[in-house]
Amino acid sequence: MSILIKNGRIVTAESDYVADLYIEGDQIAAIGKDLAQSADRTIDASDKLVIPGGIDPHVHLDMPFMGTFSSDDYTTGTRAAMHGGTTMVIDFILQTQGDTLHHALKEWQGRSEGKAIGDYSYHMAVTDFNDNVAKEVVQMIEEEGITSFKTFMAYKGALMIDDGQMVQLMKVVKENGGLVTVHATNGDMIDSLIAKNKALGNRAPIYHYLSQPEVTEAEASGRFADMLNYTGCPGYIVHMTCEGALNAVRKASIRNQRVLVETCTQYLVLDASLYEQDFEGAKWVMSPPLREKKDQVALWSGINQGLIQVVGTDHCPFKWEQKLMGKDDFSKIPNGHPAIEHRMELLYSEGVNKGKISLNKFVEVSSTNAAKIFGMFPKKGTIAIGADADIVIFDPNKKHTISVDTHHMNVDYSAYEGWQLTGKTDTVIMRGKVGIENDECLLEPGYGQFVKRGKTSLIF
Ligand code: URP
Ligand code: ZN
Ligand code: ZN
Repeated sequence: MSILIKNGRIVTAESDYVADLYIEGDQIAAIGKDLAQSADRTIDASDKLVIPGGIDPHVHLDMPFMGTFSSDDYTTGTRAAMHGGTTMVIDFILQTQGDTLHHALKEWQGRSEGKAIGDYSYHMAVTDFNDNVAKEVVQMIEEEGITSFKTFMAYKGALMIDDGQMVQLMKVVKENGGLVTVHATNGDMIDSLIAKNKALGNRAPIYHYLSQPEVTEAEASGRFADMLNYTGCPGYIVHMTCEGALNAVRKASIRNQRVLVETCTQYLVLDASLYEQDFEGAKWVMSPPLREKKDQVALWSGINQGLIQVVGTDHCPFKWEQKLMGKDDFSKIPNGHPAIEHRMELLYSEGVNKGKISLNKFVEVSSTNAAKIFGMFPKKGTIAIGADADIVIFDPNKKHTISVDTHHMNVDYSAYEGWQLTGKTDTVIMRGKVGIENDECLLEPGYGQFVKRGKTSLIF
């Protein structure tokens, strides 16, 4: 199978030019003006952008969490992602405390193999560190191509590790060329605020927000940066929401330390006023919670200042019936919201179209940097000869409205209902095959492959 994409505006993290692009098999084979190759299929991309397939490095598909499972599985989740221009995701395996990493890996393989439509990889969440787990960490890097290790500084009793375990893990990961990622919030402070609110009879979703003030994230982010500095381990803070946490990273940069940062679309475009409504606010109960307008300003600036390298989603959808588990107690509302489908379009419409970020920056934070940080570049994350042909043909002028009636995620509400966007995914090519065309997904479950990742490269 060969495809010739004609006259598109090819945009990568560094370049922007009009050319043709020729795909043979699953890779990009030629790029140039007026290519003469004859192909099985020719697509006219005049007036459209041709960009690398999006990579969302923070999703939770079919994840057991807070007494239920996130409602998108590998089929519905990667299909919805592809509709929005994301061709690869990185999910999180959760070690069960007291159990092995390998056992958790088997469980996640069972949930994903033969089911994904887009490509995927896993981060390994280490929730219980000991000598045996240290050996498994090495095996994950050397044998399984899983080179990033997630840690939680919150969710005590289920996922949280203490600072002693964190430092020991960092040492092993550093020695073996991996990366430690973190959910950086102060779990003990949050637990005590939750308990206090419940004792006072404060049960509505807004108390989820009030139990996780900015300081809980700023403190943990600074502590994580200090532990990285002490161990020399490369580190990445997931789903950063606020100015205080960003300032902790800025402070670390003064001593020439580089801490990598991801934020998520929701923290850039939504704010905590959404909690000021009764139980409806449960739609946005996630951890950390949405913040203030001043935090949005800080995050957009952080992207442009190069302090934030990646925009993911933390896609962790629950149907309304699942959210109702916390009807009388905010602490029982499953944490997370549906976002995988609209990341690229929201970022384009709210970011590029409104002049907050450049087109090159859009590509960088939605695809290229994730590929570089997580050991997949240049196979993924760019448009270059020899790269996987994961390509999005994006219509920058098309207007559309987000709605539960038209989205593809397996969830019965939209966190962005009625939002009007400019810029829409038109056609998606996934490793050389047309994946999305005319709003239809043309690929079957099982097409998506597990991507073995290399060691972390922090030089970019
Ligand atoms: O609310 C969230 N973020 N749910 C998923 C788990 C996590 O902390 O990332
Ligand atoms: Zn988290
Ligand atoms: Zn998450």
